[in-house]
Amino acid sequence: MTTPEQARVAIVTGGAGGLGFPIAERLAAQGHTVAIWDLDAARARDAAARLPRARGYGVDVTDRASVDAAMTEVVQEFGPLGILVNSAGHNGPVEAFASYPFEGWRFVMALNLDAVFHCCQAGVREMLKTGYGRIVNIASIAGKEGNPNAVAYSASKAGVIGLTKSVGRELANTEIRVNCVAPAAIETEMLNQLTPEFRAFVTAKIPVGRLGKASEVASLVAWLASEECSFSTGAVFDVSGGRATY
Ligand SMILES: NC(=O)c1ccc[n+]([C@@H]2O[C@H](COP(=O)([O-])OP(=O)(O)OC[C@H]3O[C@@H](n4cnc5c(N)ncnc54)[C@H](O)[C@@H]3O)[C@@H](O)[C@H]2O)c1
Repeated sequence: MTTPEQARVAIVTGGAGGLGFPIAERLAAQGHTVAIWDLDAARARDAAARLPRARGYGVDVTDRASVDAAMTEVVQEFGPLGILVNSAGHNGPVEAFASYPFEGWRFVMALNLDAVFHCCQAGVREMLKTGYGRIVNIASIAGKEGNPNAVAYSASKAGVIGLTKSVGRELANTEIRVNCVAPAAIETEMLNQLTPEFRAFVTAKIPVGRLGKASEVASLVAWLASEECSFSTGAVFDVSGGRATY
């Protein structure tokens, strides 16, 4: 549990989602005030209603004006931003590269990478006002390894890893820390976007022999979002049941 002085204002994008909500829940349990941003405003509000000190916002993270307006609202209502977790994302089409639809590529890039740029930039501008902050981007093991038949997802998550490294290093001389996590397949709604064959394929690649749990990701994210995470920045933290050992 955080002390009252360590309690921060946190934003979780995609915070109504299968990973986003357990992350928001964990941050709220630690005493932080949580703004749940989600495209689905009703789900964001419902999710927030289940947590102490939380509020849901309908935000399209691919739309810079929507991000900036919500950022202003959060800071005006709750105070300086301390924590930003970028969890909104989508797997996109699962198709052979030779026939992969370009509109699917654009959709995934806009949500998984452009939106992380928008939210990180808006967040960093706020954090620079106090000099303190913790940013945690949810990447994926696909960004390190490349999943076959998921070119946009893999490339977008590799982009998130590169963005995290760049911004983390750039801000290393402040008290702002920027890290990302690279989960293997986690038991969430998002996996329903995958075919049974693809699900079996990703499970078979995990040496621990099972899918991850959302609580296992939330626990790591909560530490990366804490003051205790002081000497790690621009780093990629695997939560992959042994799938990635590099
Ligand atoms: N679940 C997994 O196995 C897994 C593995 C590795 C990485 N990830 C990553 O974790 C993150 C969260 O995944 P999840 O399992 O919670 O997915 P999810 O589909 O359950 O949740 C995603 C959330 O993002 C929201 N969203 C979609 N478009 C949005 C937009 N334009 N603006 C704001 N919100 C938007 C959705 O409404 C949804 O609530 C994603 O970035 C995903 O790529 C998931």
